[in-house]
Amino acid sequence: MSEFDNRVIVVTGGSQGIGRAYVESFAEAGANVAIFDICDPAPVAEEISSKSGAVIGRRVDVTNKAQVDAAVQETLAAFGQIDVLVNNAAFYEGLTFQPFDKIPESDWDRSMNVNVKGVWLTCSAVAPHMRQQNFGRIINISSNVVFMGKTNFLHYVTSKGAVWALTNAMSREFAGTNITVNCVAPGYTITPATRNMGSAEEVARLEREILDAQSVRRLLEAEDMVGAVRFLASDGASMVTGQTITVDGGVIVG
Ligand SMILES: NC(=O)c1ccc[n+]([C@@H]2O[C@H](COP(=O)([O-])OP(=O)(O)OC[C@H]3O[C@@H](n4cnc5c(N)ncnc54)[C@H](O)[C@@H]3O)[C@@H](O)[C@H]2O)c1
Repeated sequence: MSEFDNRVIVVTGGSQGIGRAYVESFAEAGANVAIFDICDPAPVAEEISSKSGAVIGRRVDVTNKAQVDAAVQETLAAFGQIDVLVNNAAFYEGLTFQPFDKIPESDWDRSMNVNVKGVWLTCSAVAPHMRQQNFGRIINISSNVVFMGKTNFLHYVTSKGAVWALTNAMSREFAGTNITVNCVAPGYTITPATRNMGSAEEVARLEREILDAQSVRRLLEAEDMVGAVRFLASDGASMVTGQTITVDGGVIVG
């Protein structure tokens, strides 16, 4: 028996990268998991289901309210409840590093839409159900770049700063309920998206700089993020709300 047995967990952006690691971990722990992803998550859901747990995949653009609302209703119809929401979907693959005044408006708008509006819409869609059952765990994925003053990535940094601020304010709006809202801020983690952030040489240089900045001298992998998310979803975290856990090998301290 695990404390996640029969829990129902929604992971946005769970088709690949770090999100997929959350899905696999919760499914292995006996949870029922729903993946909301703009890339068809059905094949991944089927693959993970064949090994462990019950996993369903819904093709959802988190910036589209009607699609998000429908996917939440479908998840409730399939599993009867939603206990945990992991807001992991984000847009950054394909964004280039450039000075803030050179960022194309379309990149700015898409970053804000997916990374901020998507979180707000998904939280809004699950909130009535979580209030009704007087239980819920919302875990929003930000980034350690918010605390680094990272240059030449202002659209992404600003959007992830908004996720951090939204988490803090939203946690207070659930005062008087057993619904917690917390944040995990990953550091640079090897995923298909990060390995596409530039040429092989540029990525290798970036990874050397990051390793030098970390106290734990190995690059993070998707599985390294799972522990913090599982803790925030666990019974042991019932008194933790409005908090951020940075998981970055020690780049940010304090
Ligand atoms: N990998 C890192 O180094 C790193 C560092 C800090 C924070 N993060 C954050 O961790 C999370 C996961 O990162 P990753 O590297 O696995 O990213 P990724 O790009 O590999 O995966 C993102 C997932 O989100 C989905 N997605 C994108 N737009 C969507 C939309 N509009 N609607 C629904 N789904 C959508 C994608 O299809 C994909 O499956 C993101 O929130 C990211 O910002 C990652």
